[in-house]
Amino acid sequence: MAENLRLICDGSAVIESGKGVRFSVERYGRTVPAFVIRYRGGVFAYFNECAHVPAQLDWQPGEFFDDSKLYLICSIHGALYAPETGRCLGGRCQGRGLKPLVVCEINGQVFLDQETING
Ligand code: FES
Repeated sequence: MAENLRLICDGSAVIESGKGVRFSVERYGRTVPAFVIRYRGGVFAYFNECAHVPAQLDWQPGEFFDDSKLYLICSIHGALYAPETGRCLGGRCQGRGLKPLVVCEINGQVFLDQETING
């Protein structure tokens, strides 16, 4: 297994269009929050920081999807993001997206590619 991969969680903990998993990464000497969600079978991860102001998105720990289960939503002012890209789709993100992290699923476990943290 590649040395740059870090185990985040079991894949079963990341629910399709449902509850995600929060984790932390070390970035430029700081511990910053991040999360992984599952959408259309794939896993996607982002820094847990809204593009509007640097607030965490989830309204309850791990709850990132809106009621439609099609979009990620910021709990503060309702900015909407595409689950598979983090692109801003509406609201106060005003064209700015979430910052992505690269994750992959191997043998039912979700790994973070740590080389992407400071990218
Ligand atoms: S802090 Fe996220 S929309 Fe304002």
